[in-house]
This record gives sequence, structure tokens and C-alpha cells, in this order.
Amino acid sequence: MRLQDKVAFVTGANSGIGKAIAMRFAAEGAHVAVNYLPGGTREADAAAEIATFGTTGIAVGGDVSKREDVERMFTEVVAKFGRIDIAVNNAGIEIKRPFLEVTDDEWNKVIAVNLFGAFLVHQTAARQMVKQGPGGKLINISSVHEDIPFPEYTAYCASKGGIRMMMRNLAMELAPYRINVNNIAPGAIATPINQAVLDDPIASKNAISEIPWGRFGRPEEVASVAVFLASDEAEYVTGSTYYVDGGLTQQVTLY
Ligand code: BGC
Repeated sequence: MRLQDKVAFVTGANSGIGKAIAMRFAAEGAHVAVNYLPGGTREADAAAEIATFGTTGIAVGGDVSKREDVERMFTEVVAKFGRIDIAVNNAGIEIKRPFLEVTDDEWNKVIAVNLFGAFLVHQTAARQMVKQGPGGKLINISSVHEDIPFPEYTAYCASKGGIRMMMRNLAMELAPYRINVNNIAPGAIATPINQAVLDDPIASKNAISEIPWGRFGRPEEVASVAVFLASDEAEYVTGSTYYVDGGLTQQVTLY
């Protein structure tokens, strides 16, 4: 049990990578607050499943891009478990649109959830961690696109690049409090965000042709890195991005 009795807060934890992280944290002995967007298409079911690991899971509904929601959710979690040890920014959205056609609403929505939401969650978590002491673990699930371009996903790339710099700054500012801050950058993972590509044999084959490992990743393969970064073993690890991408970022087309 690598996270025995730790208290973790995971955003967007009712599906995809977030759900895999919530489940794996619980399997490692953590109590997990499963955030989900109320009224969304995938309401929380992970919290109920967590009980099967013998730890406590609570579902906390709220919009990560709204300060009042984020503060209320953290108040609920601290009231229930007394503290916060780990906060994972996982909730994210993407909108595909040629740059010349992107609307203000599309741009603002992606930045609001992916970047402003990440700021709100890590600021609220860090304030609690500093108050309770000592230490804590902050993790962002960014993307390979915190570094490499993705044409027609400019707002998404801007949000993920922003998360990269936020993480690097926080690693420095929060080091005196012994709060570790790191990113995990997944490549193409088989989750609902990629459903359209997974369902289309040609698009799927094209995507796989760019991955040296020759397949999509599994959410559990991202979760195993999250466990390490959330554990005491990562004591001296801060300010870095860990790629889980089957080599995707090494793929360079020369001709
Ligand atoms: C995006 C996916 C994409 C993957 C690799 C992820 O961040 O959400 O849509 O397949 O990066 O390009």
C-alpha cells in the first residue's frame, strides 16, 4: 500500500484517466474525493466502486472553473477526512477548430476548465496543505501538447502549455512547504476524449502509425505514474513533466 490513509482529490474522476487514477489511489489505500461535473454525461460512479477497495470514496460534484464550487468541494473533503494530501488536476476538454474560426466562447471555455480550473484547484489545495502541514503532492495531467503542437487545437495547446509553466513556478514557490508539484503528459490514451478516433478505423490507424509503441495507451498506465508521484517515494521529485506516450513525442517526420 503506497498511499495508505492519504487523502486525495482528483478532478474529472468519473471517467477516463481520472477514474483510473481514483481507482488506483484507492487500491493503494488512499481515501479519494471523486470530482465530477453535475449534469454532465458521466456522473460519478467511481466513488461507489472505491468502497470495494476498503477505503472511503466520496463524490464531490462541482465545476472546476468556478471558485465557489472548488472552495465548497475542498470544504466538504476536509470536513470528511480532516486534510488533503494529494490534489490531481485531471479534468480537461478539447475543441477541434481551425485557428481562423475559433470563437471567443470556444477559446474561453477550454482555458477556463483546463487552465483556470487547474489554478483554482491547486491554489485551494496548497492553501490547505500549508495550513495543515507538512507537505503535499500536486499533480497535473497535462498532455504531450504541453510541449508539441497540435494543429486545430490551439486553445487546448495554450492551456496545456500554461499548465506546464504553472507547475514549474509552483514547484519553486511551494518547495519551502515541502509540496511537490509535477505534471504527467499522456499521449494518445484510449479514453472518451478520443472516442471519435477510436471508433474510426482509418483515423485510429493513422494515430497509431505515429506512436512508436504501436498502440494507444491505457488509462491505468497513466495512473501508475500518478501513484509514484503521489507517494512518499517521490519526496525529492518536483518541477518536472513525466511523459506517458509510447514514444509519441520522439516521433519526428523527416520526409
Ligand atoms: C489529446 C488527444 C490526442 C493526444 C495525442 C491528447 O492530449 O487529448 O486528443 O490524441 O493528446 O495527440
